[in-house]
Amino acid sequence: MANKPKFYITTPIYYPSDKLHIGHTYCTVATDAIARYKRLKGFDVMFLTGTDEHGQKIEDKAAEAGVTPKEFVDNIVEGEHGVKDLWKLMNISNDRFIRTTDDYHVAAIQKIFKKMYDNGDIYKGVYKGKYCKPCESFWTESQLVDGKCPDCGREVQDAEEEAYFFRLSKYADRVRDLLVNTDFLEPRSRVHEMVNNFIDPGLEDLCVSRTSFTWGIPVDFDPGHVVYVWVDALSNYITALGYDNDKYADFDKYWPADVHIVGKEIVRFHSIIWPAMLMSLGLPLPKKVFGHGWLLLDGGKMSKSKGNVVDPYLLSEKFGVDALRFFLMRTFPFGSDGNFSNELLIQTINTDLANDLGNLLSRTTAMADKYFGGVLGEGAGATEDENYLNGLYAQARQSRSEVQLAFNFPEGDPVKYDVELIRAALELREKYEDAMEHYAPHTALAEVFRVIDRANKYIDENAPWALAKDMEQNSARLAHVLYNLLEVTRICGVLLQPFMPESCAKLFAQIGAAENVRTWESAAQWGALDPCAAVHKGENLFPRVDMDKALAELEEAEAAARKAALPPIELEPQLTENVDFDTFCKSDLRAVKVKACEHVKKSAKLLRFTLDDGTGADRQILSGIAAYYEPEQLVGKTLVAIVNLPPRKMMGLESQGMLLSAVHTEHGEEKLNLIMVSDDIPAGAKLC
Ligand code: MSP
Repeated sequence: MANKPKFYITTPIYYPSDKLHIGHTYCTVATDAIARYKRLKGFDVMFLTGTDEHGQKIEDKAAEAGVTPKEFVDNIVEGEHGVKDLWKLMNISNDRFIRTTDDYHVAAIQKIFKKMYDNGDIYKGVYKGKYCKPCESFWTESQLVDGKCPDCGREVQDAEEEAYFFRLSKYADRVRDLLVNTDFLEPRSRVHEMVNNFIDPGLEDLCVSRTSFTWGIPVDFDPGHVVYVWVDALSNYITALGYDNDKYADFDKYWPADVHIVGKEIVRFHSIIWPAMLMSLGLPLPKKVFGHGWLLLDGGKMSKSKGNVVDPYLLSEKFGVDALRFFLMRTFPFGSDGNFSNELLIQTINTDLANDLGNLLSRTTAMADKYFGGVLGEGAGATEDENYLNGLYAQARQSRSEVQLAFNFPEGDPVKYDVELIRAALELREKYEDAMEHYAPHTALAEVFRVIDRANKYIDENAPWALAKDMEQNSARLAHVLYNLLEVTRICGVLLQPFMPESCAKLFAQIGAAENVRTWESAAQWGALDPCAAVHKGENLFPRVDMDKALAELEEAEAAARKAALPPIELEPQLTENVDFDTFCKSDLRAVKVKACEHVKKSAKLLRFTLDDGTGADRQILSGIAAYYEPEQLVGKTLVAIVNLPPRKMMGLESQGMLLSAVHTEHGEEKLNLIMVSDDIPAGAKLC
């Protein structure tokens, strides 16, 4: 197609400081669905995502892991279950992936910084203020909330150093105007937040270089300074198109961006700092920033440090990638926060996918198969009246008017059901489009599912199984009913493609929908499906999930993952205080042989040992190790006991000493091993 309209859409570029979780997946899947929707509509889409790899947090994490920062980020971006792997798994259709450590980006940032320095918007001064390390954000005293970072609530540090500043204050009025008087930032509630909390209290100049760490892009004309990570990160949206570099050459084609999709906590950077930087560079502004809400867990933000992140790998492995993508987009209004739970996920799969869509598809294809051998035949397609209705809708779309129908069918008249179904299907694309254009994918999906519900009701209204009892009489009607069902399934399938691309391809194969009836245009055409196409009931695309079983399995897997994330081995710290030799020698350590061992009645912990300590008399020791050993395993073993501790009573029994064991913690669990020595050592031998 000549001169396709362009659409440039971006996600935030992710910090590869930890593995990504379902919250990041939410943001990327939403952007992907919008990008796919635009492609479906015929746009030439540029969809960019990537990683934001500089900053002190990454430098610190790498040092903790004992690797260089580059090795550290390489592993999280390119490694197994890394960022790129995750997007591949989630079927993300990004056209480009930028890493801020890419050479072309680094060189371009140096040029961008220099341009703003040369035009006087960046100047050198002294930075005094507060710095939130985890957020890599500078704050003034007045911006702090209860003395803490206003974004994450954590402690901030005093900071004072020579630094470069960006004249953000100079752009305050223009940015305010942009936010208040245009629809640059959505949802609208975020505009009030930005204006009231940041602009109106007075925009101060922004510190845009650091000297206290080195993992950043060096300011090439002043060694020792690295570029503030947000200046580096935000510019990715233009460097990835080739701005100030030769790696790409489509800046003129795609800039300005049509939309930056971002989470609500980074709206400030995208709606204040970014436009001001672009104004300074003399570049056109993006058309829109959309600030979506957070996926919460138990009402709070997910975070690695709280140990409450949800793993997208685990969920997609269990329920399928498309089911997970669908759930994320169907359930949570995009502009608001939403509470994630496994129950909600399974419920959505069972209700919408297994019951509604799954049943519609499998019942319809099964009946087409059973009653017509999979081919309904020419006569089953749209009737003349239905074609006329189709035409009316096409005209109304062109003239932007509404279709008014004055029919009044009596209840029970099959034509009434047909017309209702066909109208619902013909009106769907416009409603869907309206929602998608307003960044409300959840509403778009709700519209699709309203039509799917209508179609399921149509099955009950027409009771095809009853019609099938008299094929001679009803064959034509039955074929038409099934055709209508296939057609409505097709139209819904076309519009579900951006959300569940793989499942829709399978759905189309089952209903015999050729490529030319999978298109955006065909989603507004009734009767486009070939009534002679071969329909076959294939695999069940959306199997029902057993809620209790799946929840138990998820809980187990999540517990195992939490455990695996704990340090593999933790040791008691060594004592630093010396013990003098004579004191040490006062402990009488002896080899002892286990003559008998049994559980102490009514105690879950204690084992009672009868030991040969070489004196000829039995020694009884009680030891709290029942969780680690079965008594019979220990009989005959040679252990080590300290025999000159004062006797002690436990559960009414006397313990004459203590058995030595080694203890450590493994993945958060305490482990204990009795010290066993060679059986060649006689009972009573002294250990020294
Ligand atoms: N590196 C910056 C973005 C720079 S863009 C020039 C950053 N990275 S991030 O990895 O911390 O977050 C990336 C995106 O994921 C943000 O939009 C953030 O809002 C989103 N999410 C992270 N956790 C989230 C949820 N729990 N829920 C929804 N989105 C969340 O910020």
